[in-house]
Amino acid sequence: MGAVRVESFGRTSARSWNIVKARIDEIESECFAEGAFAPDELRRAFNKPRNVAVLLWDGPLLIGYTQAEPRGRGTYYIANTAIAKSHQGRGLVKLLMQRLYDDMRAAGARFIERDAAIANGYADAVVRAHGPDIVETFDHDSEYGPQRFIRMRVPAA
Ligand SMILES: CC(C)(COP(=O)(O)OP(=O)(O)OC[C@H]1O[C@@H](n2cnc3c(N)ncnc32)[C@H](O)[C@@H]1OP(=O)(O)O)[C@@H](O)C(=O)NCCC(=O)NCCS
Repeated sequence: MGAVRVESFGRTSARSWNIVKARIDEIESECFAEGAFAPDELRRAFNKPRNVAVLLWDGPLLIGYTQAEPRGRGTYYIANTAIAKSHQGRGLVKLLMQRLYDDMRAAGARFIERDAAIANGYADAVVRAHGPDIVETFDHDSEYGPQRFIRMRVPAA
């Protein structure tokens, strides 16, 4: 693994959507298979003006991303998080999410909402990682299988 770094993606970003879209589609398909967002949905999600998105790089290789959208009343909803299989299990999600939280805080967010898959242990991991900031959780079914809805405070900087 080379030098891993995070980069905020947005309208003022140095990188344009055209440069990253193919690799984002590739990671999305690899991570979510038939549950993957379509290329058009990803384009809208990453480029909508008030949405926030963060890219994760290993040297010149894009290896992950996360993206959130405003839901009103100081709340952002995290719609998507993925790290390429080649780079999972190395503790990189923390780095990625930390920048997303920084960017949401800068955009005026005080609360985060998200759904996380229960079956693969991710919902438990998210709750473990954010214990003091969790406000509310409940489990529900979805077209992607059992999910846990999580509402939490934006962690302090
Ligand atoms: C989910 C995913 C992004 C996690 O990345 P990862 O590389 O596997 O996980 P990491 O090795 O970086 O670390 C996981 C640890 O980080 C911790 N963590 C720290 N900050 C976190 C955060 N903001 N969110 C989630 N976990 C966090 C977790 O608690 C977990 O620790 P533990 O299980 O040891 O208690 C990745 O597995 C993936 O892309 N999976 C396929 C797509 C997917 O399921 N996305 C989530 C949809 S709900």
